[in-house]
Amino acid sequence: MIRQARGYSYMDLLDLCPEKVENYEQKLKNFYTEHIHADEEIRYCLEGSGYFDVRDKADRWIRILIKAGDLIVLPAGIYHRFTLDTSNYIKLMRLFVGEPVWTPFNRPQEDHPARKEYIKSVIEKGGLPVKAH
Ligand code: LAC
Ligand code: NI
Repeated sequence: MIRQARGYSYMDLLDLCPEKVENYEQKLKNFYTEHIHADEEIRYCLEGSGYFDVRDKADRWIRILIKAGDLIVLPAGIYHRFTLDTSNYIKLMRLFVGEPVWTPFNRPQEDHPARKEYIKSVIEKGGLPVKAH
């Protein structure tokens, strides 16, 4: 399936509830702080639901609801954040190519190589990023 086709060799489960996660409140706070990663963020939702917010070309938030059975792949370098919804629970499969690196780099991050690469790919696809006004 997708795991093999895309070479997602690493997999673990993130059961987002206070009993199972160390520093639960702090983690949620970090997830909701706008950031990028040097790699793709790949999540498959097994239970519950939540929101991934991503920035569009005009730097406005787009809110994406993710629920059981949904897969989301955020490209490296895209500004994003995550929050629970009113169900207050999500169980996510985290996938990664190779040894996982989860490090978030909080905005602003314009000089980060992954950010530059992302901007370049957006421009190549014909969507010149416009400044919000
Ligand atoms: C994150 C969590 C939701 O990395 O997996 O944002
Ligand atoms: Ni992230």
